[in-house]
Amino acid sequence: MHIFLTGMMGSGKSAVGQKLSKELEYMFIDLDKEIESKNGQSISQIFSEEGEGSFREKETQTARELNLTQPAVIATGGGFPIKEVNRNWMRKSGKVIWLKASPEFILERIKDQDRPLLPKPIDPERIGLILNDRIPIYQQADLVIETDNLSLEEVVKKIIGKL
Ligand code: S3P
Repeated sequence: MHIFLTGMMGSGKSAVGQKLSKELEYMFIDLDKEIESKNGQSISQIFSEEGEGSFREKETQTARELNLTQPAVIATGGGFPIKEVNRNWMRKSGKVIWLKASPEFILERIKDQDRPLLPKPIDPERIGLILNDRIPIYQQADLVIETDNLSLEEVVKKIIGKL
């Protein structure tokens, strides 16, 4: 059974995924990084040159082509579960975990980073709007982990305690 980490940008999927995979002795896969290496373009480039629709197709395609022969922790991009096909694929391939974070914590983590959907200077309201749209989707996860105020170690421990 694989483990899929879902949640908003800045919810800690990559950092938590790396640590969790070490603890469980699973492989770690960062879907955004896989998309970048497969296409030879950064996520920002794909968004700006081809648009979000093209990025979403590449995202689904890249996930399907992952070599999941060993148990893996997979950090998905924040928008990956939007497509029903992706949700179904995750559900049948393993356990889906939503790393739930409030807009305030998300803003704190990503304020110095570049994300195509949240260009700098980041509008805090926009984080809340994207999150509200996606809550019904993220809520379909098998497990919801509240991450606000928790350290990386605490989040990983909480996940392991609930697996
Ligand atoms: C996106 C999140 C990003 C990346 C892309 C779109 C989203 O991944 O896939 O910029 O729609 O929320 P992270 O959640 O890893 O930042």
